[in-house]
Amino acid sequence: MAKEIKTIGVMTSGGDSPGMNAAIRAVARACAYYNVKCIGFYRGYQGMIEGDHCVLNARSVRNIISRGGTILKSARSEEFRTAEGRKKAAEHLKEIEVDAMILIGGDGTFKGGQIFSEEYDIPVIGVPGTIDNDIAGTDYTIGYDTALNTVIDAIDKIRDTASSHDRLFFIEVMGRDAGFIALNAGVGAGAEEILIPEEDLGLDRLLESLKRSKRSGKASSIVVVSEGDKIGKNVYELADYVTENLPDYDVKVTVLGHMQRGGSPTCFDRTIASRFCVKAVELLLDGEKNKMVGLLKNKVVTTGFEEGLKAGRSISKELLRISDILST
Ligand code: F6P
Repeated sequence: MAKEIKTIGVMTSGGDSPGMNAAIRAVARACAYYNVKCIGFYRGYQGMIEGDHCVLNARSVRNIISRGGTILKSARSEEFRTAEGRKKAAEHLKEIEVDAMILIGGDGTFKGGQIFSEEYDIPVIGVPGTIDNDIAGTDYTIGYDTALNTVIDAIDKIRDTASSHDRLFFIEVMGRDAGFIALNAGVGAGAEEILIPEEDLGLDRLLESLKRSKRSGKASSIVVVSEGDKIGKNVYELADYVTENLPDYDVKVTVLGHMQRGGSPTCFDRTIASRFCVKAVELLLDGEKNKMVGLLKNKVVTTGFEEGLKAGRSISKELLRISDILST
């Protein structure tokens, strides 16, 4: 029989994302509702290793639902990758009698959680929180919708000035290994080309497409580039390449950077954070472990870590096609 869960720990790990605070709030409030003690660990796995924690009750999470960032702070812990680091974390959990953990983060967070849970038999549930939206087992991760809206807003502004000066802008968005932000924001903002890590569209095609745009009477253009695009050139190198080969273009570069990770979460992100985390607490109380929660077809579902991590998540070919058609 599964051990009774009296105390649940929660942490946020990896790159922060808007809506993580709404998630922490939902964990703390659901714990209060079910009369379970809730402990927050600071800086993800690092806080578990160092025993850096606080008690979270229903009132300690007031007024955070609308705030970006994470009150528990976030980090990518190198030490947790070592057996020694994980041992220290398990010892701290034992010391303060934490029976189970809710891990809010991306696939790196889930991988760590899976190993930890197998080594120390501590039930963990993963909650997908990353602006990248690159986790299998869910259509949406917490923070992605907010980041998309931030990106769209920035591109719209850049388009105004691009159009006034008849310029071509290369705009770099986040996504080292995943092109979801670039592809969706690119279509949403009406970009002429979108370069992503999953598809090598090739430099020739980029030049061809830009030449075609000029011929068709477009005076300004936007190319959205994911930071890890497959062409293998960074956004500045791409801009130089186009300037050399298409001297008619007045080329500029904007790197949106970490502004994409901040800001007040959208209603959508707050809502999925709330739904995911109530479910995560209930799963642990029902004796479940080593699973992640996610949203598929607008239903909160669970996927085993093993299955989810193996599957990977592929980008939408349909969106690529739509982008091609609409950039005519
Ligand atoms: O995983 C989220 C993310 O924002 C990626 O899109 C980006 O590549 C990376 O984190 C940046 O990480 P850091 O904040 O450590 O530079």
